[in-house]
Amino acid sequence: MTPTRNSPKILVTGGAGFIGSHTVVSLVEAGFEPVIVDDFSNSQQSVLDGLRTILGHDVRCYTANCNDAAVLEEIFQNESVSGVIHFAAYKAVGESVAKPLKYYRNNLDSLMLLLELMPKYGVSNLVFSSSCTVYGQPEQLPVTENTPRLPAQSPYGNTKAISEDIIRDTIQANVPIKALALRYFNPIGAHPSAEIGELPLGVPANLVPFITQTAAGIRQSLTVYGNDYNTPDGTCIRDYIHVVDLAEAHVQALRKLSESEAVSSYDVINIGTGRGETVLNIINTFEAETGVNLNYTIGPRRPGDVEQVYADVSKANEVLGWTARRSLGESLRDAWRWQQKIS
Ligand code: UD1
Repeated sequence: MTPTRNSPKILVTGGAGFIGSHTVVSLVEAGFEPVIVDDFSNSQQSVLDGLRTILGHDVRCYTANCNDAAVLEEIFQNESVSGVIHFAAYKAVGESVAKPLKYYRNNLDSLMLLLELMPKYGVSNLVFSSSCTVYGQPEQLPVTENTPRLPAQSPYGNTKAISEDIIRDTIQANVPIKALALRYFNPIGAHPSAEIGELPLGVPANLVPFITQTAAGIRQSLTVYGNDYNTPDGTCIRDYIHVVDLAEAHVQALRKLSESEAVSSYDVINIGTGRGETVLNIINTFEAETGVNLNYTIGPRRPGDVEQVYADVSKANEVLGWTARRSLGESLRDAWRWQQKIS
């Protein structure tokens, strides 16, 4: 899996993060040469060791924030990249409510800088990391890409909606960029080697890392946020996708952009499994797959949670020729294997 001189170079911002690091692996497997830029504000240097073990070689990595215009310009000058996958962003919903400017400054400035530098250096292909959070609580399920976006529930969510608009407006102004914004549903799991996975800072806000930490004894008990929703067992429904499936969707998106002869184009695509699972389903499946019993209680609803959201994935199938292949059981087993490795 060593890149050759002819492997197209792809700049992966946030490439040491959870989704970014798995995408780095998928890129190399598909014959690309990833170049990471990451400030390690929400990731660790050990991710680079995990990548080296999986790939058998180092991945070039610049330690910098993507708002650093001088460093970013230097990277574009040095690396002759043929595309960009832009993951780098702050993503903690609660913190974004407390520190909105931190989120708007970081998440929007870095995107705008990339959109300025890409045409300057003749780079046209951009895959952007968006989120199903832009749909809020949709009236119809599953959600298609035509489902109207609803006002964001948090500054974090708003940065995703505004970022999509910034890309769309830039491309509408005939800037020669071809972009695909991928609206992710809930990424979970880890690389099957357990060399890379999710590394939440502090107490995890997301369900699966909280489950695996509870199973490992790091947390005493899991709270299920509400069981009085209008769903089969009363708990919220989400579309949980294995992070390696999600990573592979990025590679497919990049391939599609490379094949396209358009000068400028913009589209959004849902990336999920198309299946909705309740919180209790996730707990039960985790217990069945791993043989570990989880200590959990039912608590009140979490403010800001939507009742249910899951993807219509027909556009991803048709446009990208991509579909999620890994089961929920596999995702939870991989998440658990990773947790055991790092505990
Ligand atoms: C959350 C963010 C979303 C972000 C996504 C990134 C919120 C409100 N939303 O989505 O903006 O894009 O992460 O991955 O934070 N749950 C429990 N107990 C827990 C943790 C979660 O019952 O300890 C439930 C939640 O109520 C929800 C489901 O598990 O129904 C999934 O929660 P989570 O993993 O936090 O993801 P989202 O809320 O969907």
